[in-house]
Amino acid sequence: MKILYSSLDLIEWRQNIKPSKVVGFVPTMGALHDGHLSLVKKCIDNSDVSIISIFLNPKQFSKNEDLGSYPQNIESDLKQLKKIGVDAVFVPGVDDIYAENDTFELRETALSLKLEGKSRPLFFGGVLTVVSKLFNMVRPLKTFFGQKDAQQLMLVKKMVVDMKYPVEVVGCSTVREKNGLAMSSRNEYLTREEKNDASIIYQALMEAEKTLRKNNISAKVVKEKILGLLNSKKYIKVDYVSVANVKSLEEIDGLISSDVLVSVAVYIRNVRLIDNILCKKNNEGG
Ligand code: PAJ
Repeated sequence: MKILYSSLDLIEWRQNIKPSKVVGFVPTMGALHDGHLSLVKKCIDNSDVSIISIFLNPKQFSKNEDLGSYPQNIESDLKQLKKIGVDAVFVPGVDDIYAENDTFELRETALSLKLEGKSRPLFFGGVLTVVSKLFNMVRPLKTFFGQKDAQQLMLVKKMVVDMKYPVEVVGCSTVREKNGLAMSSRNEYLTREEKNDASIIYQALMEAEKTLRKNNISAKVVKEKILGLLNSKKYIKVDYVSVANVKSLEEIDGLISSDVLVSVAVYIRNVRLIDNILCKKNNEGG
């Protein structure tokens, strides 16, 4: 496994790959868990050459967020990637990705303002800027993103279309702990009791899905049901519960007539957890 420590190393490595080879790419911020590794495996299985980046991207954190304490475990990350059989890992420094006089930023003006964008105003600008820089250097033919971060996946798919990146964005399903909690690097911050409480998130989403299968159910009822379950847990503080049109992310309160993204964001102390499910509109009733 080749470890590339700088943009120059990466660009040189990329130049030596034959044009006929399918380069597959998974960007991450490290502290790898089985969710990340499922993307990595899919990447290896579907590409000729696989490359993973590990870069804790400061631009996607606001000042009051957890950049300073975000879990990092580079040695163990590299060990796991080597074991799986990744071809190359890109581990750049912050000054390499963002030169001191770098004045560019990619901004999206519609989808990025909803849901996560409302709570985390700098987040998507930071994500899209770094992903676009990484795409420019890696020049992947395929890239793999998790459905766990559904809005991020949507925005990367839209960026690829709008900014004309010749890359296929493959969405990968959410990997969960035994208790249903979506795997996340931030789960490391939680105590056992808090993790127990956090398992209500997926249970609430499953309940929502069940309710949505009934006809003539309003989104408001679904949201209230989720809120009730989340609020029943001592350690959980709800940031938002959303039922939104799956394409526009427009919030829905009335009857549901389209496929919807049901998503939640909660805090446990200052730890922010998000999760979601996609629900297809059921035309058969019952
Ligand atoms: P990070 O949170 O490290 O996640 C990297 C990738 O792993 C993302 O595509 C994310 O959706 C996916 N992922 C995380 N948890 C998952 C789970 N439980 N199941 C399946 N996939 C999961 O997302 C980022 O980093 C950053 O925003 C990044 C895109 C790297 C840009 O900095």
